[in-house]
Amino acid sequence: MGNIIEIKNVFKTYNTENIFTHALNNVDFKVKKGEIVVILGASGSGKTTLLNVISGLDKVTSGTIVYEGKDITNLKDKKITRFRKENLGFIFQTYNLLEHLNVYENVLVGAKLGKEKTNINEIIKTVGLDVHKHKYMHELSGGEQQRVSIARALAKNPQVMFCDEPTGALDEKTGKIVLESLIDVNEKFNTTMIIITHNPGIALIGDRIIKMNSGKIVEEIINEKRTKPNDIPWG
Ligand SMILES: Nc1ncnc2c1ncn2[C@@H]1O[C@H](COP(=O)(O)OP(=O)(O)O)[C@@H](O)[C@H]1O
Ligand SMILES: [Mg+2]
Repeated sequence: MGNIIEIKNVFKTYNTENIFTHALNNVDFKVKKGEIVVILGASGSGKTTLLNVISGLDKVTSGTIVYEGKDITNLKDKKITRFRKENLGFIFQTYNLLEHLNVYENVLVGAKLGKEKTNINEIIKTVGLDVHKHKYMHELSGGEQQRVSIARALAKNPQVMFCDEPTGALDEKTGKIVLESLIDVNEKFNTTMIIITHNPGIALIGDRIIKMNSGKIVEEIINEKRTKPNDIPWG
């Protein structure tokens, strides 16, 4: 199957008051359509920087980011913002949901960003929140809120879903339920996923594991058989 994303020789250097941080140092890998790629590394290894440049939130210092053959590296801000809005989904450690809207309405907000109509009820069902559809955020547990954010990201039918430490704020039991939801989404909609974590156990749910240290890929592992979230060691 074809590559949906190609990350070619990417460098990212931050310059803060003439202190240079080489956050990404020649990062190079490809992502296949429908793949779950896990980026694994300790805090400070460059994971979030990598996500930011792949998703067009931040510019590379040098190198190239290609989506389905289209080079997005030097797109103008307006174009890249639109590309992100229409094609990419995001899930963060903190859920960033709208408190004054219920579950259904939060997911609807996500759907409005996309180009096509999606079935909101089906999406809510996929993440197991059918019975909570009319609840507000303060009426939900952390794990449930994270599943709302998965549903919201999914509602635009994104080409790629980016998850930065999606279970970082959750305990083992709830975290595994959230990972199950991500897998369900991937299996049902063939959504490509890039999941960032510092938790080596979580890496086993993916098809490809990219290990990072000090801005470099130190190992790339093809995981022939995904481990079910329930069977992974935690932390
Ligand atoms: N906006 C920024 N300005 C300057 N340095 C940054 C910025 N963002 C991250 N860094 C530095 O880049 C390195 C990688 O950070 P980051 O990508 O956040 O790592 P991770 O997500 O793996 O914890 C760290 O040394 C961090 O201090
Ligand atoms: Mg980070």
